[in-house]
Amino acid sequence: MKTVRTRVAIIGAGPAGLMLAHLLSKADIESVVIDRRSRDEIETTIRAGILEQGTVELLESSGASTRVRTESTRHNGIELRFAGNGHRIDFDALVGRGVFLYPQHEVLKDLIAVRLAGGHDLRFGVTAERIEDAETARPRVITTESDGTQVAIEADFVVGADGSHSVSRAAVTGSHTGGYFREYPFAWFGVLCEAPPSAEELIYSNSPNGFALISQRSETIQRMYFQCDPETDAQAYTEEQLWEELQSRVPGTTLHEGPIFQRDVLRFRSFVSHELLRGRVALIGDAAHTVPPTGAKGMNLAIADVVLLDQALRALLLDDDTRLLDAFSEKALRRIWKAQHFSWWMTSMLHVAPGASEFDRRRQLGELRSVVESESGRRYLAEAYTGWPLESLT
Ligand code: DHB
Repeated sequence: MKTVRTRVAIIGAGPAGLMLAHLLSKADIESVVIDRRSRDEIETTIRAGILEQGTVELLESSGASTRVRTESTRHNGIELRFAGNGHRIDFDALVGRGVFLYPQHEVLKDLIAVRLAGGHDLRFGVTAERIEDAETARPRVITTESDGTQVAIEADFVVGADGSHSVSRAAVTGSHTGGYFREYPFAWFGVLCEAPPSAEELIYSNSPNGFALISQRSETIQRMYFQCDPETDAQAYTEEQLWEELQSRVPGTTLHEGPIFQRDVLRFRSFVSHELLRGRVALIGDAAHTVPPTGAKGMNLAIADVVLLDQALRALLLDDDTRLLDAFSEKALRRIWKAQHFSWWMTSMLHVAPGASEFDRRRQLGELRSVVESESGRRYLAEAYTGWPLESLT
């Protein structure tokens, strides 16, 4: 088997893996990033679109993206809609912060471009089979290239940033699934359509027919979601039926309709890995935790993990100091569980659970009123949505 040697082997060229590689390269720590997908697949897969202010500041200040400030749209609030009325949560007035609409695949294009422009090692179409010797100073990733060749990547440290179906997780937790999780009895039906925006800001709508989210992409392309059964076949609806579903869930707004050119069903669950670190292998991003999409925490949480692991790896690899690595899991998990709570809370507050009783329904409206009618309630939502400050390990 061919062997490649590097300092940090990173499995997964998503936001977590690529951002970590970028920050390490700024400290002259060499890494190899692999992903089983092609560059084109990574750059064209549609994911969420909301970046916390701290994420944007880091992308910009680290030189990862020059476009994120100029090509994103700042949102200073969202609307919660229920019982026939819209209630604006004014982020700017409440916490002096905002969020930015800039789709995840645009972040990925920026990170891939900066990695390749710097001449750094990034390999597409390479599958990680397993991690060996996690608890030694020479962990290795056994990989298969697209032509079937097996290559071992030997490193001082291995990072699993390989998403919710992580292969790396087994080396850290002892199993592919080892973690705390909960499932939800619904999914999101997502559409992309060619139409002007239906609202200036995002609308999160709780309606008797179920949840809907009216989001945007640009002046001409819109992203919208509605709650559906997880078994729904995305092709089962006509365009007319999709518009009917969406319209019925945002009473009070007439959506601007247009051709729907992409549709997908997103199943979701909450998951936190039992362990984030074993020996010289760490998990970050969706490999470490998955959140339901309501509240758009997924990618932002991945970036917060990266900020901490970057510091720990600099101390380990440049100064032979393991103290920050020892503190990594505990510190990362504090934010992870706060974000888990927020995502679960937004999800449970806004969706209609199948079989919900009249009591459940009225209690939910009481909960929504408790939030929008209280400045403290609105401020908690604004703080969590725009993102808690990115912390450091020191
Ligand atoms: C989007 C996705 C989310 O999960 C969310 O909470 C807000 C916006 C989006 O894709 O635009």
